Order: sequence, then C-alpha cells, then structure tokens
Amino acid sequence: MHDRTLGASGPVVSALGLGCMGMSALYGEADRTESLATVHAALDAGVTLLDTGDFYGMGHNELLIGEALRTAGAGARDRVVLSVKFGALRDAGGGWNGYDGRPAAVKNFLAYTLQRLGTDHVDVYRLSRLDPAVPVEETVGAIAEEVEAGRVRHIGLSEVGAETIRRAAAVAPISDLQIEYSLFSRDIEVETLPVCRELGIGVTAYGVLSRGLLGGHWTRDRALAPGDFRGLSPRFSGENLDRNLALVEALRATAEQKGVTVAQAAIAWVLSRGEDIVPLVGARRRDRLAEALGAVDVALDAADLAAIEDAVPADEVAGTRYPEALMAHLDS
Ligand SMILES: NC(=O)c1ccc[n+]([C@@H]2O[C@H](COP(=O)([O-])OP(=O)(O)OC[C@H]3O[C@@H](n4cnc5c(N)ncnc54)[C@H](OP(=O)(O)O)[C@@H]3O)[C@@H](O)[C@H]2O)c1
Repeated sequence: MHDRTLGASGPVVSALGLGCMGMSALYGEADRTESLATVHAALDAGVTLLDTGDFYGMGHNELLIGEALRTAGAGARDRVVLSVKFGALRDAGGGWNGYDGRPAAVKNFLAYTLQRLGTDHVDVYRLSRLDPAVPVEETVGAIAEEVEAGRVRHIGLSEVGAETIRRAAAVAPISDLQIEYSLFSRDIEVETLPVCRELGIGVTAYGVLSRGLLGGHWTRDRALAPGDFRGLSPRFSGENLDRNLALVEALRATAEQKGVTVAQAAIAWVLSRGEDIVPLVGARRRDRLAEALGAVDVALDAADLAAIEDAVPADEVAGTRYPEALMAHLDS
C-alpha cells in the first residue's frame, strides 16, 4: 500500500481509504460479522484511513469501528486515521432534520463520538453539511478549540464550495475536503479542486464507484431494501439507469483491454487525478475490498486515461448525484 498526505497540514494516510457508511446505513442491511472482517482485512492490507459519520446508523457505525479496532490487535487504534463527520440531525424513523454546526453542538457531538469509538481523539473531524444558520468560521473555530484540547488532530470539510473553503481556511489549517468525485461526478474540477490546491487542502473523494453503479456489479433488476438511498437516487432510476449502465458497459470493454475490472478502472482513474486525492471506497465485504485494493497498483498512462474518459464522457451521465431535496443541502 502506498501512502498519500492529506493536504499541507494533514496526516499521512494510505492511498485508498475505507468508507464504512454502508456497513450501518443507506445501502440496506449489512452483515455485522462480514463488516468487522472487512475492516480487519483492510487494516491487514495496510489501509490506514477509516471514514465514518456519527449519524451513520445513529452511532451504529462508530460503535462498529470501535469494536473493529478493539479486536484488531494491540496498537490498531494508533495505526489508523479516523475521519468522522458530524452535524446531521436525524430521527428514529430515519428522517433528516437539517444540520447543526453551532460551537456547543460541535463539542457535544464530539463527546459522544469519542465514547462510541472508544478513543480519546478523532484524527480528522468535519461538519457533514454546512449549517446555513451558523457561519463556517464559528464551526471551524469550535473544532480548532478541540484541536487545542487534544481531542481532535485535524480539521476537515465536507461538500462545501470555494467561498466556504476559503473562509474556513482563514480560521485554521484544513487538512482535506471530502466530496463526491468520480468518472460520473467531475464537477469539482472546475472551481473546487483548484481552490483546494491553491490552499494546500487535500481531497478525500467519495462515491468513487458512484455508490455501486460504477462497481461493475450493478444490474437493472437489482431489488433494493426499503431505505436504500439508491432507491431515491436519480442516477439509479428509470431511463437514467439504462443510460448510466450503458456507460458502465463501455467502461467494462476498456477495463478488460487493460486487464482490470470496472471498479478497478474507476478507482485507478480517481487515484490518477493527483497525489493530493485519496479515494474512499465503500466496500462492506471482503471480496469487494480485495477488488478495490487491486486498483492501487494499476498504472494508467495517457492512452489509458483517454480511453477511459472516452468510454464515460462526464456530460453523458444521466441524473443528479442526489435527489433534489438533498441537492439543496450542498454548499458545493
Ligand atoms: N461526505 C459525504 O457527504 C459523504 C457522502 C457519502 C459517503 N461518504 C463516505 O464515503 C464512503 C464511500 O462512499 P460510498 O459507499 O457511497 O461510495 P462507493 O464506494 O462509490 O460505493 C460503494 C458501493 O459500491 C459497491 N461496490 C461494487 N464493487 C465494489 C468494490 N470493488 N469495492 C467497493 N464497493 C463496491 C458496493 O455495493 P454492494 O455492497 O451492494 O456490492 C458498495 O456499497 C462512505 O462509506 C462514507 O464514509 C461521504
């Protein structure tokens, strides 16, 4: 496993991070035993970045990661960088009730997170979506106080746009912006990524497999459990899905010529975008993890990159990356 550094001020992490969300939420039921085995397999393979959110399964994901680290052998906690998102307000019915970035809320969320993870610090702490009622300076200032106190090591951002990034970076050093970036979602290349590079902020890219669409295993008739995010996603519905799966098939032909799978081509493409970008993959089974890890050593030359981008022209992707109501929460 290679390492990358998150921005000018951030930690050194493995070139590929493990996103643990799907082990607790949003993609239907996950198998707990297999989830724990997947985290352990990732650690064994040299993955040192684990990403979670306190609202993934309302604490479930943090408890799961805490257990995985406790059972992974001595020193496991100290070898990993724990990236935690907070701020989403949920209800027991699974509803989303906005975001809370008030300083007192930041400190409250963190106190519970430390308890659930079974640790005395979070490595990268970030508000999951901008709270429109609270200036980002106040939220980042509160996290900076937790850095001072030793309970947080680095400050991250999530799904915010250029202006917010600049305002946040004026308050305290920012290690990385977490944002969707994939062959299917290239919007950040226009403004957001250049601003991150100007300010020395890294990117942890999520949705690298477009939540499974670009995984190469998705089928038209796949049944979705109630509450699966993809049941609401414009990219997974109706005619959009047919058009997007046609792009995946074009990518499959290109990937096969290179001797890799669709998922490996999609992950390797994101890895090729720059040393400042760390893809998070949402594997929740060991077989998917092993496939994803195979992308780390895939070298793509200029001809390979051109063939991949010809197979998946960004402007031919059908549907927005979130349903309309959730798009409204994106400052990015
Ligand atoms: N900051 C934010 O706003 C935000 C938003 C969303 C996610 N995230 C973070 O980013 C992480 C990754 O996001 P994601 O899970 O949506 O993205 P993803 O990696 O694009 O999609 C994961 C899905 O792809 C499928 N898949 C197919 N082949 C795979 C392979 N070889 N390896 C891994 N997965 C494969 C899996 O579906 P099956 O399991 O059904 O096969 C899996 O559920 C999350 O876990 C979370 O930590 C952050």
